[in-house]
Amino acid sequence: MADTGQVAGNGDGRGGADAPAGLEGVIVAHTQIGDVRGLEGFYHYRQYDAIELNRRRTLEDVWHLLFRGHLPDRAERASFGREISDHRALPDDLIPFLRALAGTDPFDPLTALRTAVSLVAQRSGFRSWLDITPEQLYDNAMQVAAQTPVLLAALYRLRRGYEPLAPDPDLSATANYLYLLSGERPDHQRVWALERYLISTIDHGFNSSTFTARVIASTGADLGAAIVGAMGALSGPLHGGAPARVLEMLDQIGTPDRAEAWVRDTVASGGRIMGFGHRVYKGKDPRSALLREVATTVGGPTAEFATSVEDTIVAVLAETKPGRALNANVEFYAGVVMDACGIPRDMFTPTFASSRAIGWCTHVLEQVSGNRLIRPAARYDGQPPPQPVPVSD
Ligand SMILES: CC(C)(COP(=O)(O)OP(=O)(O)OC[C@H]1O[C@@H](n2cnc3c(N)ncnc32)[C@H](O)[C@@H]1OP(=O)(O)O)[C@@H](O)C(=O)NCCC(=O)NCCS
Repeated sequence: MADTGQVAGNGDGRGGADAPAGLEGVIVAHTQIGDVRGLEGFYHYRQYDAIELNRRRTLEDVWHLLFRGHLPDRAERASFGREISDHRALPDDLIPFLRALAGTDPFDPLTALRTAVSLVAQRSGFRSWLDITPEQLYDNAMQVAAQTPVLLAALYRLRRGYEPLAPDPDLSATANYLYLLSGERPDHQRVWALERYLISTIDHGFNSSTFTARVIASTGADLGAAIVGAMGALSGPLHGGAPARVLEMLDQIGTPDRAEAWVRDTVASGGRIMGFGHRVYKGKDPRSALLREVATTVGGPTAEFATSVEDTIVAVLAETKPGRALNANVEFYAGVVMDACGIPRDMFTPTFASSRAIGWCTHVLEQVSGNRLIRPAARYDGQPPPQPVPVSD
């Protein structure tokens, strides 16, 4: 859709303005959850710099900030921790369904996860938020945010022929996730590294999946429907589906000396370099800078290789795509960090979904608090109607 500036028909004869393709820069809602300032390379959760929060606070504290509107004090932290723990366990009667889901061929963990979230919503009797109290909706949100990583870990284990594990109430959300995957208590550095990644991806302005969640919530649908839809939006490689492709790309490049030729060939043939470019950040993506630090701290050959390749890619893109300001985005180091934490590639995007679920749920809660059905218009530019309907053969 071209940005013609003309008045568009909106289906009811009242006219309207054409929005730019991809709704770039169009403000479609007011929010108090957070925002992204692309030119400054800055994003925030509520009133706090998201990177500073990440360095100073736990995942649970940031979750509290989003769900409750403020950072917790000591007592609130303890009671919020219990609340999360109380919502985390999966009902036993869900396991046979997860087992069936894990046994399908082909198997894609993110597709299975969104199906599992749908099962949870069905099993728990989620209903239109128009028919329940705000407290019940909050409880639905807490359940989905707490159970998403648990569902994912259960699917992961069942797929590999292991039984799902019960969450450990003594472990933090991040440590629990690693424990539920491997069955081993994770070491401090892995928990630290993964937690940095998870916090960095909890929310990020009006990205495609968040918008999807809010569109679905705006219809009065139940919270499960909004999260399932958001997971569908996240699955695409232009949104959340990139981190595994980044590691595949690093594999293809092979050695640092081959990076320049590989990038030139890919750009010349019209391909995209995975983990580079962003709709909003036209300078540095602060998440990428943070995760580069984390990757470097965790160390290992992949991290070292990725940092050297990043510099080459930035230089080649600056030359071959001048003026587009193409830098590494969050996905470039996401895969590197998750790989270092022992998370397999096909679990990268689902793991992203497990932290973003907190953000999506917060947006659903906000959307319903001042809801107006989101229902835009499209400019019809097909053959002029009404044409006579041909008689059938
Ligand atoms: C994220 C992304 C979809 C944002 O795209 P966008 O805002 O719609 O930007 P556009 O697609 O309009 O791209 C603008 C220009 O930069 C180029 N470009 C953008 N990202 C590029 C990339 N990763 N590799 C090579 N060129 C890229 C486009 O080819 C286009 O060039 P042109 O003007 O010569 O046609 C895009 O950068 C991309 O596809 N990145 C790779 C996938 C990825 O990392 N996704 C995770 C996002 S967090």
